[in-house]
Amino acid sequence: MVSETRLHPAELVLPMFVREGATEPVPIVSMPGVVQHTLESLPRAVEEAAAAGIGGIMLFGVPEKKDGRGSGGVDPAGILNLATTVAAGAAGDALVVQTDLCLDEFTDHGHCGVLDSDGRVDNDATLEVYRDMALAQATAGSQLLGLSGMMDGQVAAVRDALDGAGFADLPILAYSAKYASAFYGPFRDAVQSSLVGNRRTYQLNPGNRREGLREVELDIAEGADIVMVKPAMSYLDVLSDTAAISPVPVWAYQVSGEYSMIAAAAANGWIDRERTIYETVLGIRRAGADAVLTYFAIELAQSLAAGGPDA
Ligand code: PBG
Repeated sequence: MVSETRLHPAELVLPMFVREGATEPVPIVSMPGVVQHTLESLPRAVEEAAAAGIGGIMLFGVPEKKDGRGSGGVDPAGILNLATTVAAGAAGDALVVQTDLCLDEFTDHGHCGVLDSDGRVDNDATLEVYRDMALAQATAGSQLLGLSGMMDGQVAAVRDALDGAGFADLPILAYSAKYASAFYGPFRDAVQSSLVGNRRTYQLNPGNRREGLREVELDIAEGADIVMVKPAMSYLDVLSDTAAISPVPVWAYQVSGEYSMIAAAAANGWIDRERTIYETVLGIRRAGADAVLTYFAIELAQSLAAGGPDA
């Protein structure tokens, strides 16, 4: 009766991976319990998510071939765009099908953007590719574009491209305060990232709190419909700051490394898995997130439906 924060399945989003050329789901070693789906296994998984009552799924593509410009992300026959159409068909109106709009899964150098002749990420040239990628995802049936590349001006560029092509109603989720984090390690296995080096020239310095809020403000000014803080657990102060000022919904991403730590400790019997999942997501909600991306989404929704960890 006195609880200030409660969890509900509708505010959970499940990130999902779809691998081109796979004939059966492939387990991700560093994320026990998470798989790379095939186009054939995806519909059932979407139906399972819908049956659990979660609010949405966030799709990531794992292409067979990569190149310097990340062409697979723009190609209508690229794995992410094909998966989007399949997922949208399976989901109907039961949940929101969302797509990752970033080049890192599609580039052979593994960066979130294209490179200039000196091998540096070229911010403005990347915006042109993001515009095309946004239209490809919109055409494929994505219902929410997740801009995770951390290029300056990406929200304004994608908004402009969408509005000019008849997609004025399609909303943008901006990964606004996205920190250069060690917690993305297992994700890079999940998407078979070819990254050499790091993303510190475009993702945020983990020591910077004010800068996180500044990135949020810029994205809101550019037209973001939802802003996000990522990772979640180590950045609850930034999340709280964001929730205090944001006129739009605030989301947080409990990322791959956060998932794997909990999964590993629970597998060793060192912590109670169900209680830990509940408490971490509750903490993220308490800090100010309206919704949470988490690889535990279905498991947590099922736990909640059964009365939660205290049942
Ligand atoms: C970029 C992207 C990343 C994640 C989500 N979108 C990887 C990165 O920035 O290196 C990480 C998510 C996770 O760790 O669960 N496309």
